[in-house]
Amino acid sequence: MIQQRVLAILSVSLAFAACAGTGTGAPVDPAHAEASHRNPFLDVNFFINPEYVENVEATAKAFPSEAEAIRKVKQYPTGLWLDSIAHVANLPLWLGEARKQQQASGKPTLSLIVVYDLPNRDCAANSSAGELKIEENGVARYQTEFIDVIAAHFKSFSDLPIVAILEPDSLGNLVTNLNMPKCSDARDVYVNQTAYAIRKLALPNVSIYLDAAHAGWLGWDHHRENLIKVYKKVLRAAGGLDMIRGFATNVSNYTHLYNRDGAAMESSDPCYNELVYVKKLAVGLADHGVRNKGFIVDTGRNGKGQIRKVWGHWCNIKGAGLGERPRAAPEPFIDAFFWVKPPGESDGISDPTQPRFDAECASNESAKGAPQAGVWFQSYFHDLVRNAVPPL
Ligand code: BGC
Repeated sequence: MIQQRVLAILSVSLAFAACAGTGTGAPVDPAHAEASHRNPFLDVNFFINPEYVENVEATAKAFPSEAEAIRKVKQYPTGLWLDSIAHVANLPLWLGEARKQQQASGKPTLSLIVVYDLPNRDCAANSSAGELKIEENGVARYQTEFIDVIAAHFKSFSDLPIVAILEPDSLGNLVTNLNMPKCSDARDVYVNQTAYAIRKLALPNVSIYLDAAHAGWLGWDHHRENLIKVYKKVLRAAGGLDMIRGFATNVSNYTHLYNRDGAAMESSDPCYNELVYVKKLAVGLADHGVRNKGFIVDTGRNGKGQIRKVWGHWCNIKGAGLGERPRAAPEPFIDAFFWVKPPGESDGISDPTQPRFDAECASNESAKGAPQAGVWFQSYFHDLVRNAVPPL
């Protein structure tokens, strides 16, 4: 993941006219279009991932005097990340479990899936560099071995509500990081393959959200404006505005919901916290004809304010605490607060001798001893629990 703001000059105009209509996509499925007008988080239970519960339990055992607080985390849902072709094999297992939980409770049980394997992934950082490369047939593999297989699984669990967040950071990188070759090479691929993923995953039981970075990355007026232009291009290629339910912000980042942290770190950014960002983005989208969309905000690790001095730092930030508990419709414009990045999983390895090392993960604001991105980082999770706001 890269979450930093890089002040790059956008060398290409991504301006596009209205994106209603079908573009190059298939006609929108009426049942999916209808579903895109509803907040999918309302009136459902959330799937609890047994593997996450095991990690929490192991940590509780490691810190017996705090086990009670740590164990409380087991009741909260977390995002399920499909970050490689091999990991797609987890999907039917997770959804099978979700079906059992749904049958046991008698209430629809929602799973939140993060789809994360674009060719040239994490193009402006290294810690989450992916397996697919454009020059090595990455586009064809992304379509046939990744997205098509995910779509088939979603279809075979048509009785379950599913939220899919597409490709964290990718479209944000097209706003600020086109000066980096791995990003500029990926520009058309990110747009067209995101559109491909939308078209394939636009099923009646699936609500799709596009990633929307966070206040400290794209909060500036011109960045938000350019992000909206990128969205319009993607949605035009995907088949129109009704193909998606909305946008996900702060995924894997630490930006506070309510305070004025941003004003101290970047005084020129009008979005001094995440809720201001969501509101300004929603208003900007509406000005461009993209209305009535819902937002998911990742609140896994943004409970505590004033934990960093440099907003662009994004890797295993020291002092972070669990944030608002996952729940539906907590604020205007917001479909849900949700722990999209499972709290306790690393953002990237801190050892410079290891593959995928990114210097950000050894910054003075990053926790030491961090394992590879996605791997359980027990001491960090312990701190997240201790620093939780609200407390557990
Ligand atoms: C990593 C993924 C991981 C996800 C959730 C990302 O930064 O690249 O491998 O699944 O975080 O922890």
